[in-house]
Amino acid sequence: MSSEAARKFEFLANQCVEAGASFSVALSGGSTPRRLYELLATPDVHLPWARIHVFQVDERCVPPDHPESNYRMLREALLNRVPIPQANVHRMAAERPDREEAAREYAAELARVLGPKHGGWPRLDLIFLGMGADGHTASLFPASPALDERRLAVRVAFSKMLNSHRLTLTLPVLNSAAETIFLVSGADKAEILREVLRRPPPPDPLPAQLIEPANGQLSWYVDRAAAGRL
Ligand code: 6PG
Repeated sequence: MSSEAARKFEFLANQCVEAGASFSVALSGGSTPRRLYELLATPDVHLPWARIHVFQVDERCVPPDHPESNYRMLREALLNRVPIPQANVHRMAAERPDREEAAREYAAELARVLGPKHGGWPRLDLIFLGMGADGHTASLFPASPALDERRLAVRVAFSKMLNSHRLTLTLPVLNSAAETIFLVSGADKAEILREVLRRPPPPDPLPAQLIEPANGQLSWYVDRAAAGRL
């Protein structure tokens, strides 16, 4: 699963850069994508890092060196190991006391680098999403008011279950990307994967079912264990 995802990233980034553009990607946290990030830093994968902009899908409200920080995972697995210019790394400063301000600044950063290209929303070239066993994706949790966000590109979200605040990209941005890839692994995700892929979706969809790119490609990369109930 991870090496297929690495190949796809390599293909898309090189295609974009060879056509003269730079390439933007938003990366999720959690444990699933770590292997992918490690692979992206190996010499087998050829990426034009000087032309790649890395954004975060979401971040826990902790300092960047905290064990739960998504940025810390990203840095350790990938960013510290590749020649990406620091100016191309766009970290969500979710540790700031004023979270609303941090969300506004991240939205401004997205707009500055990517421009409002897609119906007024920034259009990322690629987004990697994960999915929780409760059907959440990014930091959009079931029944969260953040799911109704149609105005802001980035907002503060709260998970009751985890009792934690996060910053997250919102649905309008997530659904404006050119390519979106869900990475799902492990037997503990098998049941929710079956539910999320069921068609037609229920009247009260889970957050992962609300990922429906308006003008982009959506793919699911899953391992054998997660696919066990399909
Ligand atoms: C995070 C995420 C989140 C994650 C899922 C799956 O900060 O936790 O970005 O949306 O992708 O919770 O997490 P696992 O890969 O750890 O199962």
